Amino acid sequence: MIILDRERCIGCGLCAADCLSRAIRVENGKAEVYKDCFHCGHCVAICPAGAVRIEGGGYDMADVEPVGTGFGIDPETLLHAIRTRRSIRHFTTERPTRDQLRAILEAGRFSPTASNAQNVSYIVFDEQTEALRALAMRELRKLRESEEAFYAVFPPPMSLSRVNFDDDDFLFKGAPCVILNVSPHAVNAALAAASMEMETAALGLGALYVGFFTRLAAKSPALRDFLGLGAEDQVVTCLAVGCPAVEYLRTVPRKKAEIDWR
Ligand SMILES: Cc1cc2nc3c(=O)[nH]c(=O)nc-3n(C[C@H](O)[C@H](O)[C@H](O)COP(=O)(O)O)c2cc1C
Repeated sequence: MIILDRERCIGCGLCAADCLSRAIRVENGKAEVYKDCFHCGHCVAICPAGAVRIEGGGYDMADVEPVGTGFGIDPETLLHAIRTRRSIRHFTTERPTRDQLRAILEAGRFSPTASNAQNVSYIVFDEQTEALRALAMRELRKLRESEEAFYAVFPPPMSLSRVNFDDDDFLFKGAPCVILNVSPHAVNAALAAASMEMETAALGLGALYVGFFTRLAAKSPALRDFLGLGAEDQVVTCLAVGCPAVEYLRTVPRKKAEIDWR
C-alpha cells in the first residue's frame, strides 16, 4: 500500500506526474492516492520531501537508499565491464560465500519486471549441488539411448555429438553453486539473470549460463519434481557459479551488430 505523509507532502505533483498507474492526484495542495497500483515505487524515489512509503505486501522501506549524484558508473567503465565479462567453464574448489551469493541474488531482485510483477524466484544450490548434478546427468544420459528422445529435448541445430555424456561435470563444469531463475515470465527471469551475471563478475567470481540444464528441466518430470516446480514454473536460466580457475587477458571480437537506423 502506498502511504503519503500529508505533513511532509509539499504538493509539488512530481509523484502524480510520474505515476504510470495514474493512482495519485494532487488536491488542495497535497498528493493523495486514490486507487491501487502495481507498486513500482517511482513515487517513493521521486519525492523531494521523502513523504511517500510503501507498506505491507512484502515491501521493506529499509531497501530504499539515497541515489546521490547519477548512476555511479561512467559509461566507458560499464561498457568495458560488459565486454570483459566471460563465460567461465573452469572453477577452483573454493566456494563463494553466502554474502557473495546474497549480493548476486540482490542484483536479480532489483532488476525490472513487466508490470513490476516481481515474479522471479530463485533456487540456490550451495550445499546440495552434487545431488542436482547427479540427477541432471542421470536424466541427460537417458537421452543418449534414442535420437528421437534427444532431439525432443534439444532440437537441431543441437546435435548428439555436442554432448559429452561421459563427463560427470558436463553441465556445471565443477562449479560449487548453481542458481536457477524460475518464473512464468521468461523475459523477467532472463533480465534478472543478466544483472546477476554482471554482479557475479564484479565480485571476482565466475558464472556460466547452462542452457543444457534449462532444456532438460523443461522436459524431465524427475528434475521438475526434485526442484518442486509447479505446472506454470519455468526454469528460465541456470547459472553455475564459482571462483574462476581461468583468467582472460583480453576481450573477444564479435560480429558487427545488424542495426537498421531509421
Ligand atoms: C542462454 C545461454 C545458454 C548457454 N548455455 C551454455 C551451456 O549449456 N554450456 C556452455 O558451456 N555454455 C553455455 N552458454 C555460454 C555461451 O556459449 C557463451 O555465452 C558464448 O559462447 C559467448 O562467450 P562469452 O559468454 O564468454 O562471451 C550459454 C549462454 C547463454 C546466453
